[in-house]
Amino acid sequence: MGLTQNFPRPIQELIKERISIRGYDNHEIPVEFIEKINSFMYRLSNLFEAQLRMEILQITSFEKDEYLKLGSYKVIRGTNTFLAAAHPKDKLNLLNAGYVMEHVVLYAQALGLGTCWLSITFNRDAFIKALQLKGNEIMPVIISMGFPQTGIDLIGGYYRTLVKSRTRKAWKELFFVDDFSHQLSRHSAGLFADSLEMVRLSPSGYNHQPWRIIRQGDLFHFYIFRKILPENKRKVGFNMAFLDCGICMAHFALTNEANGIAGDWFLQEPEIAGKTDEHTYVASWKPSV
Ligand SMILES: Cc1cc2nc3c(=O)[nH]c(=O)nc-3n(C[C@H](O)[C@H](O)[C@H](O)COP(=O)(O)O)c2cc1C
Repeated sequence: MGLTQNFPRPIQELIKERISIRGYDNHEIPVEFIEKINSFMYRLSNLFEAQLRMEILQITSFEKDEYLKLGSYKVIRGTNTFLAAAHPKDKLNLLNAGYVMEHVVLYAQALGLGTCWLSITFNRDAFIKALQLKGNEIMPVIISMGFPQTGIDLIGGYYRTLVKSRTRKAWKELFFVDDFSHQLSRHSAGLFADSLEMVRLSPSGYNHQPWRIIRQGDLFHFYIFRKILPENKRKVGFNMAFLDCGICMAHFALTNEANGIAGDWFLQEPEIAGKTDEHTYVASWKPSV
């Protein structure tokens, strides 16, 4: 059975309607919902034998009716339920965390729950304790979960404006054929136009949308594009773009499956003309034969 059959509604609808929710209505998520999410998580497989530990946590020390001080910003309010994840530090583990956790985000959306990926603005201490982080593990992200508050969420709205959450890059900036100088039009994407549009709509940290995709026949090669910064401006720590790329790969695979196109992920970097140091190869997809 394919994964999309677990979703009570078309995956494209869920992808299109999902936005990051930062204001929740204080109601506990019913136990049946948590059980459903847990059994859905159980059905998910990791990419490339990557490692990931996921758990839904209720952090009762957080007052739900205040904006939670998750790091230096207070953006989340009205819930103390979070999906947290841990894994050994490794790029493929990060990629996989984005991939697997986005499946859970979309499943939660189907249940009527709102979510928000949080990596930049959360205070890790309470989560590290609750998840009992082991020596070699990192906890790159958590995802807040709950019922969206009705009405205006001022702080959430402000954040959305700040990172221009409503906008996405155009096709011509993201999708290419054979090399990085030929754009892939919607028309020539044919059967895959829907899946690529769902990639385009993916959420990403700061809404950076770092993914770039090259089509070579029926193969799709996924890259991260990153401007090379002078050494003194480079950030240390884990590489969030791999999480972002995992998220868009989840949209691609789920939409393909929904449209009856079976395929597999593999790792084999192709020779691509026009690739620069600003492009990092991530993974490729091929249809099953
Ligand atoms: C990996 C990742 C990390 C994120 N970290 C944060 C965060 O720390 N705080 C926050 O308020 N939003 C965070 N976001 C949400 C993004 O800002 C949001 O997805 C993006 O602006 C697009 O908006 P949308 O999700 O409403 O479509 C994160 C998103 C992703 C995918």
